[in-house]
Parts: sequence; structure tokens; C-alpha cells
Amino acid sequence: MPEHLSNEQLIHAANEFGTPLYVYQAEKIKEQYQKLAKAFSILDTKFFYASKALTNINILRYIKEIGGNVDCSSINEVKLALHAGFEPQKILYTSNGIAFSEIEEAVTAGVHINIDSLSNLEKFGKKYGHSYPVGIRIRPNIMAGGNLKISTGHDTSKFGIPVSQLDKIEEVVKATGLFIRTLHIHTGSDIKDPEVFVKGIEVLFELIPHFPELEVIDLGGGFKVPYKPGEKETDVELLAKKIKETFDNHPMAGYPEKTGTGKKFQLWFEPGKFLVSACGYLLAQVTVIKDTGPIVFAAVDSGLNHLVRPMMYDAYHHIENISNPAGEPKVYTVTGNICETDTFAADRSLPEIREGDYLAFYNAGAYGFEMASNYNSRFKPAEVMIKNNQALLIRKRDEFDDLLNNQVEITGFIN
Ligand code: LLP
Repeated sequence: MPEHLSNEQLIHAANEFGTPLYVYQAEKIKEQYQKLAKAFSILDTKFFYASKALTNINILRYIKEIGGNVDCSSINEVKLALHAGFEPQKILYTSNGIAFSEIEEAVTAGVHINIDSLSNLEKFGKKYGHSYPVGIRIRPNIMAGGNLKISTGHDTSKFGIPVSQLDKIEEVVKATGLFIRTLHIHTGSDIKDPEVFVKGIEVLFELIPHFPELEVIDLGGGFKVPYKPGEKETDVELLAKKIKETFDNHPMAGYPEKTGTGKKFQLWFEPGKFLVSACGYLLAQVTVIKDTGPIVFAAVDSGLNHLVRPMMYDAYHHIENISNPAGEPKVYTVTGNICETDTFAADRSLPEIREGDYLAFYNAGAYGFEMASNYNSRFKPAEVMIKNNQALLIRKRDEFDDLLNNQVEITGFIN
């Protein structure tokens, strides 16, 4: 299995389907999934793919084919997962800030639910009492993740119920008879240090005695993937060992046969980037080379409307000039064609870029297409999946009618 898709495969896809184009390599998703499954085989673990990273239903079906479950962040993601063929017990809905009616819909669908506010927890308890097991998203007050925008577990984050409000949670549980099956945390994205997960577990472990019906410890997602050449991903083998140690050493978790007192909890994860980041490439064609003296701009037929991560998070995405890989290295600022400063990469050394060349942006599988928009009334790109060396279109490029699709043309109101 290739580490990456070859330049030839990418050029072939660009020629066949046009640019800008998202291309996903199915086998890479499987490789990542199996790496996780193997590492965590020492514990009773389930993986729920965080579908917010990439929801194309063919990707969802592929995740199903390789044995994964799905984590959702909206009721529409739940519906997409059901549409893709997942059974409700393989779907988890980790909600935040949502109307209770969405939670009711999720109950009707029969999926697992994590609730992240006292308000919804209370409504849930009043309506369902003990009849529907549920999870609580705890805010552990831990700072973690690649940057503040993607840190979600710290003490000013909107996510989860602060661990300091345990007494309030207990009040609600007691008053309504809730069946708390899961304690959940998700502290952020791009977390390399296994100790962050260990710290999170320790916070949750403190809570175990308060929830006697607990069966699941859900540690969310957030494993780091390498964006820059030479960077390392989270060492999931080491992480699994550390987590097992933490479970083993706790008198109330892990291995009853060993401690005599404990209970064996199931461990859940919700990986997004780890599964689908490296499988994906955004292919774009160079439209204009503009030499301004100190800076040479290379503009492509894409922009922040298609891959917003560099502009939104200052994220680094590796770029290859797949049309001229052996060209003489020169320094470029690679931009989009959007009427904003949409810099993909500043002062990047790349093999000589000529107008018409194809550039490949790596690690575009997670939060790439998914965060795309029609800004500047440009079309969203097409998506292609390569499996067994066969490239199939899995989403058509927008057409002009798509821009008008939901607009209502009023007459007799505007002259
Ligand atoms: N579980 C929950 C509850 C989450 O909120 C997230 C991500 C995940 C799992 C998956 O995290 P991952 O394994 O992908 O790091 N758009 C940003 C990342 C935002 C993550 C939002 N929540 C980016 O492109 O870096």
C-alpha cells in the first residue's frame, strides 16, 4: 500500500475530473483505522469516527465497511450516518449548545447521546428518567490541542459541563433518576502528548464513584497527525499502554479480576483527523504567476472557500508541485483566487511553478471539503475516492444552478 498517492495518480485524477478537486485514498483510512484498532486491542475499545471531519456518504460507508462506528455533531450528521447504513447502536451524537428537540429526535432514532449542558440534562431526565441511557460531556478544565481555536476542554471553553459543577449534575441525576452510562471528554484537536489523555482519564476517574451505573469512558478525538514533513503523529501504541496502565492502577476501573473491586469499563474514542486527514488531497491548478519583486505569488483556482484551515488556524499544509516535481526550487507565496487575503503558504520553497501546473495540498481529508463554502459565488469542488487504484466520482462539482437553487426570486416587491 503506498504511503501517499503518487503524483501520476493525482495528475490522472485532475485531468479526468478537473480542478479544484478533492481526492481521497480509501486504503489510507483503513491503514489508520487498523493502527488504532491494533494499538487499543489491549483494552475493550470502540472507535466512533468523528464524521464532522468529512461526511461524504461514501466515506461513511467505507468506515462502516472497515468496522468503524460514527460520532455526530448534529442531527443531520446522525441522519447521514443512518442513510449510509449504520445501525443506531453504532452512532453516537455528541451534542453541544443544541435545542432539546434535536436530542428528542436522536432518542427517536435510537442512537447514543452525550449531553453537554445541565439544562438539557435536566430536560432529558424529566422526559426519559431511567429509560434511556445517556452520557455526560464533562469539561475537565485541561488546556490541550494545537491552538486555542481547537482547544475545547479548558476552563473558559463553552464545551461540556464544568467538572466543578459535579454537585449540580448529581442533583439532576438524583431528582430525575437518569441512567448515566457514559462520561465523555474531548479536550481538543492535534494533541500529541499522551499525558493529556491520561490527565483527562484521571479527572473522569475521580467521578466514577458518583455514577454507579457507568459503563463507558469516552475520551473523544484529537489525535495529532503530521502536517509538516518530519512531524510525528500521536504514538497510539504508547497511548494505549499508558491508558491501560491508568485503568489497571485504578481501584474502580479496569480489571476486576486483578483488583477484586473494580468494574471493566469500555473505552470509546472519536477520531476525526487521525482517520481521514492524510487520505485527502486538494488538487488545484495554477492560474497566475505574479512576480512583484520581493514576493512571487502563485495563485490557484481555489482558495479559502475550499480549504480554510491555513487562513483560519494558520495551519500548515504541505504542498507539492505535482506537474514539475524536479523543477528548480524557488520561493513562492501560494494564494487562492478569492477576494480576500487567502494565503495557503507564505515564502514556501517549491519546485518552479508555471501557470497551468497542478499543486497538491496534502492532509486535506479532514475539515477540508467539509468546511468549504460558495464564497465569491464560486463552486464547491468535486470529490473523488480512489479505492483499489480505481478513481470514482463521489460528489459532483457545483454548477451555476446550485448557486440559485435555494434563492427565492420575489416579484412585485423589488422594482
Ligand atoms: N469529538 C468531538 C466531540 C469533537 O468536537 C471533535 C472535533 C472530535 C471528536 C474529532 O477531533 P479530531 O480527532 O478530528 O481532532 N476544524 C478544526 C478541528 C475542529 C475539531 C472540532 N471537534 C481543524 O481543522 O483543525
